[in-house]
Amino acid sequence: MQLSPRTVIRCRGFPRLSVFEMEKPKDEKPSTAEDKRDSGAEDETPNSSSEATELEDSSVGKIRKYLAQKLGLHDSDDERDGQGAHMLTELSLDGIAEYIKSSGCRKIITMAGAGISTSAGIPDFRSPKSGLYHNLEKYNLPHPQAIFELDFFMENPEPFFVLAKQLMPIGFKPTPSHYFIRLLWEKGLLLRHYTQNVDTLERVAGIPGDALVEAHGTFHTGHCLQCKASYEFEWMKEKILADEIPGCEKCKDGIVKPDIVFFGETLPDRFHTLIDNDFKQADLLIIMGSSLVVQPFASLVDMVPPNCPRLLINKEKVGMQDRIMRFLGLKQGLMFDPTDTNTGRDVAWLGECDTGCQLLADKLGWGEEMKVLIEKEQKNIEVEKSKEG
Ligand code: OAD
Repeated sequence: MQLSPRTVIRCRGFPRLSVFEMEKPKDEKPSTAEDKRDSGAEDETPNSSSEATELEDSSVGKIRKYLAQKLGLHDSDDERDGQGAHMLTELSLDGIAEYIKSSGCRKIITMAGAGISTSAGIPDFRSPKSGLYHNLEKYNLPHPQAIFELDFFMENPEPFFVLAKQLMPIGFKPTPSHYFIRLLWEKGLLLRHYTQNVDTLERVAGIPGDALVEAHGTFHTGHCLQCKASYEFEWMKEKILADEIPGCEKCKDGIVKPDIVFFGETLPDRFHTLIDNDFKQADLLIIMGSSLVVQPFASLVDMVPPNCPRLLINKEKVGMQDRIMRFLGLKQGLMFDPTDTNTGRDVAWLGECDTGCQLLADKLGWGEEMKVLIEKEQKNIEVEKSKEG
């Protein structure tokens, strides 16, 4: 049996940063803000619990179990039982807002990707035309992601440092999406914010380190790849801005690489230490501005309890359960537009993250507070900047 071209295997077993996505076929249109409803094609595959029970007895059920075991995938038997708990009155942003206002929603986890920072002027990676991976021709890379691959970096670090000049967290201001997360924290509702971004804008927005997991590391520190000596951002910044490749001053041999996680590297210990306990407690998961194709981050969506609502705020639908995976009974990924709306828990709000966050804040009655917070904080940043000259 072949995996479909859109199959994204969500597997907590990937300890290292990796992408597992097959290319979309040419005729397949991604779902975008304009395409708010699914094509309905997913309805062909079984998803009700009775159909799933039949599957269980069939040979496909056995294959499913075998594959889940072999690939270390998260099997869905327990989840199937949990589906149908009515946490949301409706599968919409209104339903989510009502749920947040209720006493049943106390612990919210937010997960973010590059899409929450694009309005700050930082490009994302995979958006057609504007995404970083579509604008790397000048670096002559074997493939776009090579710029963040450790093996390639060891051979040729120059392209990364040229790009780092653009990406370093200098002079960018947090976006309304960042301040929405800060508001969740101020209201005591944020259990943790997991980010793939290395721009540190969450910290600039005032979200404390304790509430943050910077899953793909940070630009703020760096290490020599040879002797492991550590370096501060200011030291690296000076070299990078001067178009120098930062060489280790201690061993005089290694290159100093910012502590952002490259493909082939393991994620920070803090990520692995916190995920199990955090995700099992979540009352609500909000995912913003990510294509959810990079592992192991993408698999986190499957770690919340089976009845925990999941809200996606993004320009396009992402992270959806694949047909083949569903056919195999492996409940991996998000399921929007379920055939039986009574059992659904996933909501997609499609559009700009900042607009979605402001709208949700409005529905929660925090709209004005959020606007005032943004204005005040951005003014402070301007004042600090002018002091620095
Ligand atoms: P991607 O570029 O893969 O995905 C960004 C997602 O956000 C896409 O689905 C966009 O449609 C959406 N998006 C962009 N701007 C938006 C906006 N203003 N409002 C709403 N949605 C928007 O970025 P990530 O998912 O973060 O790894 O990528 C994951 C990882 O891949 C990165 O951390 C990076 C990269 O390789 C490293 O650098 C280690």
